[in-house]
Amino acid sequence: MSLEALKAEAGTAAVDRFVRSGMRLGLGTGSTAEKMLDALAERLASGALADVAGVPTSAATAARCGELGIPVLTLEEAGELDLAIDGADEIDPQLDLIKGLGGAHLREKVVAAAARQMVVVADESKVVSRLGERAPLPVEVIPFALPVAERLLRGLGWEPELRIDGGRPFQTDEGNRILHCRREEWVDPQALAADVSQVPGVVAHGFFLGFASAAAVATREGVRMLERPTAAP
Ligand code: A5P
Repeated sequence: MSLEALKAEAGTAAVDRFVRSGMRLGLGTGSTAEKMLDALAERLASGALADVAGVPTSAATAARCGELGIPVLTLEEAGELDLAIDGADEIDPQLDLIKGLGGAHLREKVVAAAARQMVVVADESKVVSRLGERAPLPVEVIPFALPVAERLLRGLGWEPELRIDGGRPFQTDEGNRILHCRREEWVDPQALAADVSQVPGVVAHGFFLGFASAAAVATREGVRMLERPTAAP
């Protein structure tokens, strides 16, 4: 089964398992979230779902919603969201995530925070035993702060690298830059996230810790529904 087919299976499974008529959704960004949008549009067109609208997490997702006829809302219009569905770059056993290789993690985190529940859609290649196993940490920085933020991140043990797309610095929907940050030791993501958040000019990092409650992970043996383990008493 191709990667594309796995992504479609994850997106469809999440829509069928978690989305109900009347819901207000957060609509994620990336190639797997796009498959989820396809499934959502299909269910709306068939009448299996009705009165569903969502807040897109990027200009790309907003455009795709327009093409598919999925009603969109602003955060102000939507109020609290029932559910955010989004992709991820890494998923650890606690369902903590690294996101943002698509460059949309600032809005994605705002939308996830606006939702009562966050569900991840992914293929099995995203599952890791610990965060940082494969992906760098995307860190969004305002352009003015870039040299200072880079220096301070290095001081915290990161190796930041400016994201370049098509020969130019990548620009987010908010007009910011992204630093892909690597390091040797990733033992305590909470502490790492807290440190990165303190760097002036950083507006968002790609750690999503404690956000996701479930994940639809497509494997070649079928879709596995993962749930965040409950804390030991
Ligand atoms: C977008 O900024 C990201 O957070 C995506 O959710 C993440 O990169 C996963 O994207 P794919 O589904 O395309 O791998």
